[in-house]
Amino acid sequence: MLHRAQATTDRPQGWRDYVVPQCWDAFTDDDHAVWDLLFARQVELLGTRVVAPFLDGIDLLRLSHPGVPDLDELNAILEPRTGWRTVAVTGLVPDDIFFAMLSERVFPVGNFIRRREQLDYLEEPDCFHDLFGHIPMLAHHAYAEMVEHVGQLGGAAIAAGRGELVSRIYWHSVEFGLAREGGELKILGAGLASSFGEAHFSLESEEVERLPFSVGRALRTAYRHDAFQPRYLVSETLESTIAAVRALTPEQMLSV
Ligand SMILES: [Fe+2]
Repeated sequence: MLHRAQATTDRPQGWRDYVVPQCWDAFTDDDHAVWDLLFARQVELLGTRVVAPFLDGIDLLRLSHPGVPDLDELNAILEPRTGWRTVAVTGLVPDDIFFAMLSERVFPVGNFIRRREQLDYLEEPDCFHDLFGHIPMLAHHAYAEMVEHVGQLGGAAIAAGRGELVSRIYWHSVEFGLAREGGELKILGAGLASSFGEAHFSLESEEVERLPFSVGRALRTAYRHDAFQPRYLVSETLESTIAAVRALTPEQMLSV
């Protein structure tokens, strides 16, 4: 997972320096076929085990259109709706760059897709993870506000040398969060929604902890980025987590 990289001393400083053309025309027929295979498989796997706004976002943004999405076409729908847009990047970006992008409602999308023989193994997030996992929820207005706020918190946390705090908030909501909806446990996070192996595991495994989400708990709960999670935080409702995260101030975050 997912957007982590080590900063180097001589790297570019602004997030725009990391943006590259998507070069949609460079995707091969097999790349598009891999997208279609992943999309069909994941939609069937998820069924209704994901929060409803995710499924709404798939439809609103026409992500079921065959082939790797063209970011310009996607942005033409997404940006007028919630002000978010996608940009292409070559791979993982440093955390400070990532959160700076979020703070301006920009989401980085890898300009590549996994190969057919690596459907379930990812060294770093590709455009299927980024687009299928993350973008549907960014069509939801309140969630879109929350992710921008996380970006702003990220800038404050990193400036204070406490980047792990915002990473935990992000991880336990946007990336690997679960949520109750209509009394049922559902997938919220993009890392789960886009994962063939961990989606059902997160909901059904009896070997993991599932603890109620709170901002305080998220700030104090470490996570794994190299294995399935040993514990998931469960939002009582999507709306309650959005409200709690949006209400978190940098000062409160840094007091932990
Ligand atoms: Fe991600």
